[in-house]
Amino acid sequence: MAMIKLNKVNKIFGKEVKTQVLFDIDIEVPQEQFMALIGPSGSGKSTLLNLLGALDRPTSGDIIIGRQNLSLLSENKLADFRNRFLGFIFQFHYLLPEFTALENVLMPHWISGGGNDHRITREAKRLIDRVGLSSQMHKRINLLSGGQQQRIAIARALLNRPKLILADEPTGALDSKSGDQVLELLQEVNSENHTTFIVVTHDRNVAMRAERIVELRDGIICKDLKPSVIGTERTMEELESHECTV
Ligand SMILES: Nc1ncnc2c1ncn2[C@@H]1O[C@H](COP(=O)(O)OP(=O)(O)O)[C@@H](O)[C@H]1O
Ligand SMILES: [Mg+2]
Repeated sequence: MAMIKLNKVNKIFGKEVKTQVLFDIDIEVPQEQFMALIGPSGSGKSTLLNLLGALDRPTSGDIIIGRQNLSLLSENKLADFRNRFLGFIFQFHYLLPEFTALENVLMPHWISGGGNDHRITREAKRLIDRVGLSSQMHKRINLLSGGQQQRIAIARALLNRPKLILADEPTGALDSKSGDQVLELLQEVNSENHTTFIVVTHDRNVAMRAERIVELRDGIICKDLKPSVIGTERTMEELESHECTV
């Protein structure tokens, strides 16, 4: 089953001065796929991720996520859909410095009106343990390192058991060792929970470890590669080339 289906999606910003950022994007992402989204700065990666995350609407075209056509949902229904279906991991992870790691993981649950029952607290603790930080959970978040904070942001994104996780440069602010650990963790979640992942990255090494690499260039899909099918060497060659192959 397709987790994501985009049909001729266009995005234009501005009223008087119009800037078209995405052009007729067609793509299908099957359930459980781990997809890297790459492309030069300004190519439209974050814009596309915001559309997929129902944080913004396309100018035209359809976005279907898990059988739900997003253009048919009201703002309230969209917010509800985001809470139930999606997990977000952004580089600036919007953690709240006044609160502990555990409180930060529980925050979205509290904000969306969830109570403080034992079950959800136990689940939050289990996830913090899962990202290897049980010894840090009662510390204030700003006492943790960048890599640790990113792992807490991942635990937070996992709390509502999302079917689809959208990550914008999740390893961008990390040194290569903690970046590797974060990536490994995402891949474990992908295979254990059957979660679909779209990971925006600048990092060639991160992309090479994905099941599929999609490259955006000036708002169109320029390449669509599967390293495990065509091999590492060929993938590298394709990525070096400036020609579009889609
Ligand atoms: N809200 C906005 N209003 C106008 N232009 C925007 C807006 N958001 C993004 N853009 C423009 O869209 C283009 C793509 O941006 P973005 O999706 O952030 O690229 P990327 O994430 O690939 O670096 C850029 O030229 C950017 O200036
Ligand atoms: Mg971006």
